[in-house]
Amino acid sequence: MGLLLRGYAILLVLGAIAFTVLRSLMKARRYPPGPPGIPILGNLHKLENDFRHKYIEDISKTHGDVIFFYNPTISVLVLTSYRSMQDLLVNRGSIYSDRPGSSIFDMMGTRNLGTEAFGPSWKLQRKLFHQHMNKGALPQYFPTVEQESRRCLRRLHRNPDNWMDELRLDTTRVILGVTYDIWDVDSAEDKRVTAANNFVKHILSTLAPVRHVPSWMPWLGDEIRLISSWGKEDRSAIVRLFNHVKIQKNSGTARRSFVLSLLEGGATDERTMAWLASSMYVGGADTIFVVLHAFVLAMVLYPEAQRKAQHEIERVVGNDRLPSIQDRVRLPYVENLIKEVIRWWSLAPLGVPHRLMEDDEYRGYFIPKDTIVLPGVWCVARDQDMYPDPETFRPERFDEVSPNGQLPLDPHKFSFSMGRRMCPGQDFADMVLFSTISVFLATTTLSKSLDAQENEITPSTIPASPTEQYPPSFKCRVEVRPAATFLVDDNQIE
Ligand code: HEM
Repeated sequence: MGLLLRGYAILLVLGAIAFTVLRSLMKARRYPPGPPGIPILGNLHKLENDFRHKYIEDISKTHGDVIFFYNPTISVLVLTSYRSMQDLLVNRGSIYSDRPGSSIFDMMGTRNLGTEAFGPSWKLQRKLFHQHMNKGALPQYFPTVEQESRRCLRRLHRNPDNWMDELRLDTTRVILGVTYDIWDVDSAEDKRVTAANNFVKHILSTLAPVRHVPSWMPWLGDEIRLISSWGKEDRSAIVRLFNHVKIQKNSGTARRSFVLSLLEGGATDERTMAWLASSMYVGGADTIFVVLHAFVLAMVLYPEAQRKAQHEIERVVGNDRLPSIQDRVRLPYVENLIKEVIRWWSLAPLGVPHRLMEDDEYRGYFIPKDTIVLPGVWCVARDQDMYPDPETFRPERFDEVSPNGQLPLDPHKFSFSMGRRMCPGQDFADMVLFSTISVFLATTTLSKSLDAQENEITPSTIPASPTEQYPPSFKCRVEVRPAATFLVDDNQIE
């Protein structure tokens, strides 16, 4: 009992000291504004909030576009305007481009471009990724990506009730195909797919902004063992996928793929190449699927936008062939529709966390080293001045000049984040999105499903879970457009 009381007393004294130090530091330095906190704990707990991006959007009306959260050990800065993201992530990119270290990730013993620390190894990987995935390198993938969109269309019409599974499988195939030249995946149960999906799940669970597992906490032994076993499983999956291309290359049967280009370039060791290749899957499979899922939701909820895009394709491309990626420049409404999907459904509402590498000062506020910085993409996409009535899906908004004479910002400029860590797969994602969406619009009408009484069922727009930005699951009707029956015919698609 005596020991317990002494323990409490020590804790109380330490708490009081920490609070006094923290308060005097906060007073001495002018930190950016944020919601009021509570003694000792600060205000960071307010970020542990379901739908935290909506909370941030709400409080940015009072606290402005640079909002500060803290507790005695961590501080977090959320940027909610394009301007603050430009000022810090782009113009001061040399100190705002690191990632918060994750002890979980270290325990897993796996690597990934997205979680790699800002430094020479990350720079080399970014350079290689860009070299093989930049706009100029993409045309070599046009034929395979287009073929895959057509295959997806055929499967979708054969199996319309499972449209979500078909879309997910399609994005998986495209990424595995382009990265590893694996095009024979026919089911989500394929071992290569489940292994790659597990790897993504493990990584995502380490990316939560404030999650750290101190390895010295003995009661976390089970969790640590589980994490180590994930690492082992993931390492062998990544090596197996990589070796598949190596074997093909050695036997002279390899076709064009991201890994083949890396092997031919030989700019780094094979271990790094294998991890870099896995970044394609981690970064690409789920993200493209979420945007396509959001596209279907938007088409079901906003049939007028769908009709306008279909008419544009009919007018420009005609009814005797499917649109190709080269048609893109002549399809401005479809282009706007894709911009609007990306804006309307922010798949990374608070981006991916960055770490500030040294103390900084911005607009007279002090921002301490190690602050975790979150790009508030959601808030930029809902900026009422730039996008009036932001919850409504309206592709034509991108052609409307505002009272101050400006067109709205293209959401590609911030939805993939900004600065040195900006998504390196953006052009690739955009190519796959255009290819799939244009082929769907040309041939298919997506509409609300009907209940037993033939009443339309309106799907919700609330994400499937507060922490993940998947649109909700819903049923919809998938019908071939009368003028396009010929285009969905198997012979046209093969
Ligand atoms: C519409 C689809 C996509 C969206 C909206 C998206 C968005 C993002 C965002 C917000 C980030 C974080 C950037 C930051 O830290 O500031 C990111 C990083 C990344 N993305 Fe994407 N992404 C998409 C598709 C893809 C695709 C298709 C690939 C690969 C083929 C990819 C690969 C990556 C990688 C490797 C990173 C980490 C970059 C780094 O940390 O240096 N992404 N993406």
